[in-house]
Amino acid sequence: MAQRVRITDVSPRDGLQNEAGVIATPDKARLVRLLCEAGVDEVEVSSFVSARWVPQLGDAAEVFALLHDAKPKGTLFSALVPNETGLEAALAVNQAAGMRLIDRVAVFTAASETFSKKNTNATIAETLKRFDPVIKRAKAADLGVRGYVSCVAGCPFEGEIAPEKVSLVAQGLWDLGADEIDLGDTIGAAEPADIALLINAMTTRLGDRVLDQLTLHLHDTSGRAAECVVEALALGVRSFDASVGGLGGCPYASTPERRAPGNLSTQALVRTVTQAGFTTGVAPERLDAAATFARDIVARARAETRTQA
Ligand code: HMG
Ligand code: MG
Repeated sequence: MAQRVRITDVSPRDGLQNEAGVIATPDKARLVRLLCEAGVDEVEVSSFVSARWVPQLGDAAEVFALLHDAKPKGTLFSALVPNETGLEAALAVNQAAGMRLIDRVAVFTAASETFSKKNTNATIAETLKRFDPVIKRAKAADLGVRGYVSCVAGCPFEGEIAPEKVSLVAQGLWDLGADEIDLGDTIGAAEPADIALLINAMTTRLGDRVLDQLTLHLHDTSGRAAECVVEALALGVRSFDASVGGLGGCPYASTPERRAPGNLSTQALVRTVTQAGFTTGVAPERLDAAATFARDIVARARAETRTQA
């Protein structure tokens, strides 16, 4: 029987967080609903981070407030939390909803010190220290915890990153109790050979059991993300993040002339895993509807920004 691959769509969070224009809160909620209808396993809905750092996601609680009746059975909602303040905001959403609307929170650090400082104003060690109470309190509230490691195949500031450095940071998250390790190729630098080295470093340090808890989060800057998925599937990875319509685009990988391509698109991910002989829960035509809507709201926001400039 074909094996099932798990898909988390991160477009409402990673896809929208760097947009300069304003995306209306109801449009964000509509995008989440369309992704649920398309059958993805999880939607990363938003982030409870400082609105000064990421203004685009300052309405996280308001987005969730529009989603009380949106979640089909079996679909999970998650959100990023960088610290206890973020966790408290996520717990308040569940309290207001009177249900576990947010199933999982995601903490995030990096395998690059420079990136960690620029992204969260903290060293890697400081982020892990911050996460300790966050993870304990999240688990006490019966929430799952994703632990992201960014810059797993290169850093926009430090260049090459050793796979052993990635696995060491991942171990830090693992030891704190994260139940999923999510490896982020933040600038989309990975080639299939890098993925093989990375997964080898992970299983060497944490054992083969880590494969059941490993997710790959690929940006498609160099157009190699689908090949990296094929390599990861061959090595036992069964969980991937992607962004419908390929929304996103790491600001650190963009130039003034050319905006970097975004996350691996969810449509490309579904095609790739299906061609490789695996199944997903996704209905491709419904995913296309979500992609059309996602591209429309972003195009509208970008056009409005150009008009105002
Ligand atoms: P800081 O300035 O060092 O924090 O930022 P602070 O504790 O000094 O607080 C400063 C202000 O922020 C205070 O407000 C706090 O209350 C407030 P003020 O008194 O000045 O009015 N604050 C918060 N507000 C809302 N929610 C919170 C929160 N925490 C503090 N949780 C901080 C530290 C971590 C907050 C900041 O750096 C931050 O928010 N960073 C977020 C960066 C981010 O979201 N990056 C994108 C996500 S990661 C990513 O995209 C990579 C990934 O996709 C994987 C990959 O591709 O590699 C996941
Ligand atoms: Mg990302």
